[in-house]
Amino acid sequence: MRIIKSPQEMQQTALELKRSGKTIGFVPTMGFLHEGHLSLMKIARPECDVLVVSIFVNPTQFGPNEDLAAYPRDFERDEQLCEKAGVDIVFYPEPGTMYFDDASVWVDEETLSLGLCGGSRPGHFRGVCTVVAKLFNLVQADLAVFGEKDAQQLRVIERMVRDLNIPIKIIRGPIVREGDGLAMSSRNKYLSEMERAEAVCLFQSLEKARALFGVGESNADTLKSDMIRQIEKTSGAVDYIELVDDETLCPVTTVDRPVLMTLAVCFSGTRLIDNAVLAE
Ligand code: PAJ
Repeated sequence: MRIIKSPQEMQQTALELKRSGKTIGFVPTMGFLHEGHLSLMKIARPECDVLVVSIFVNPTQFGPNEDLAAYPRDFERDEQLCEKAGVDIVFYPEPGTMYFDDASVWVDEETLSLGLCGGSRPGHFRGVCTVVAKLFNLVQADLAVFGEKDAQQLRVIERMVRDLNIPIKIIRGPIVREGDGLAMSSRNKYLSEMERAEAVCLFQSLEKARALFGVGESNADTLKSDMIRQIEKTSGAVDYIELVDDETLCPVTTVDRPVLMTLAVCFSGTRLIDNAVLAE
């Protein structure tokens, strides 16, 4: 397994691999890897000749009051996990090498990014789209795998690829959960013992809504109110709970088409997200 730190070297290597006829698969991450990330590598591995994983805590997707400095990092452990997962190249750019000081071009998705996490985190998806577009250009990947855990991010990236004609196939990877149902996340490690126990309420509220839908409840407000009640039993503060059209991400009043139920809940300073799709 090779570690590449320089963006120029990454691109050069990728172009040479492409010229020799190799297909490149790509899993972009911010590191502090867990089973969720590893599941994406497992999906990508058989689909490509060369598997590239990037580890880069992208400063432009964090707001001024967010956890950029505190975001957990452990490169040595990540490196070992990548090796075990059969990764060929880890792209691990040094902070400061990915953006020019006077960078003035950004990728802004203007519709799907507006609500949900984009509403709570202004500028977040501009940072995500810009870094992902840059990574796609550096890694020259034929396919990339993104997790459904970040449902809005996945749809925004798919839209960017469509609208900018980026020659890459995006594959969706299912959400990987802890035994009790909590979606795996690098941020789970911030939770206190009590918060960790309570955090399962995100998953439980989604499951409860699914059960209600299963017995005929299709009113979005009713389903939402029930989810809010579940969260309010804990110390978590609801950032948002929405039922939106799975494709447009516009709020729905009735579940009469595939609907994404999505929520963000804060425990002390830690913001957790989860989602599930309801389809008839
Ligand atoms: P990060 O949060 O490290 O996530 C990297 C990838 O892992 C994303 O595609 C995310 O959806 C996926 N992932 C995280 N937890 C998961 C889980 N429990 N199950 C399945 N997949 C999971 O998302 C980012 O980094 C960044 O925004 C990035 C795309 C790398 C751009 O900086």
